[in-house]
Amino acid sequence: MPVVIIPDPSLVVLVGAAGSGKSTLAARHFAPDEILSSDALRAIIAGDASDQGATQPAFAALHRALVRRLTAGRLTVVDATNVERHARLALVRRAYAAGLPAIALVLDLPSAVVLARNAARSGRTVDPAIVAGHLGILRRALDTGALAAEGWWAIVTLRDRAAVDALRIERRPRAADA
Ligand code: CTP
Ligand code: MG
Repeated sequence: MPVVIIPDPSLVVLVGAAGSGKSTLAARHFAPDEILSSDALRAIIAGDASDQGATQPAFAALHRALVRRLTAGRLTVVDATNVERHARLALVRRAYAAGLPAIALVLDLPSAVVLARNAARSGRTVDPAIVAGHLGILRRALDTGALAAEGWWAIVTLRDRAAVDALRIERRPRAADA
């Protein structure tokens, strides 16, 4: 995998099923204060990262923080599954409104890898049927070309563990009027 150039500032959107390694990837390549995580916000709001009842307020908080950050010209990473089209489109719109590019970082790993990782988690595991649902929805979004037509500045698709391990990100300062 060649070096992936990410304009700074920009919006980086992680896309991948539960257990695909989004939070791990984010922690490896970005600073903690650059990452807006739906799980972290659920934990802050409801005291539990997996409390689905806190999903709506968590995403409202995520979008509020995102708008502020993008308006202030801060590179921001959104760590949520984003397998649903409406979730991705809402994020792309935020980047457009701020005049910033939106980059999708897609974890399109083999289903067996994702399901095994989810099953092996020490703390929170997600119902395998839900993970399988995520994998199916994402597969269709990629295979039909739907994701490719959502207005992303760039889409980086990582298809196996080797590609994830080899990923190198280089930030390129972006002129305010570029
Ligand atoms: N993992 C791994 N090797 C990697 C990446 C992740 O073994 N290269 C493991 C992690 O240690 C974790 C599990 O796979 O136990 C899921 O990784 P995580 O980054 O938490 O996945 P997310 O996509 O963030 O899952 P969720 O949507 O549920 O937050
Ligand atoms: Mg995560």
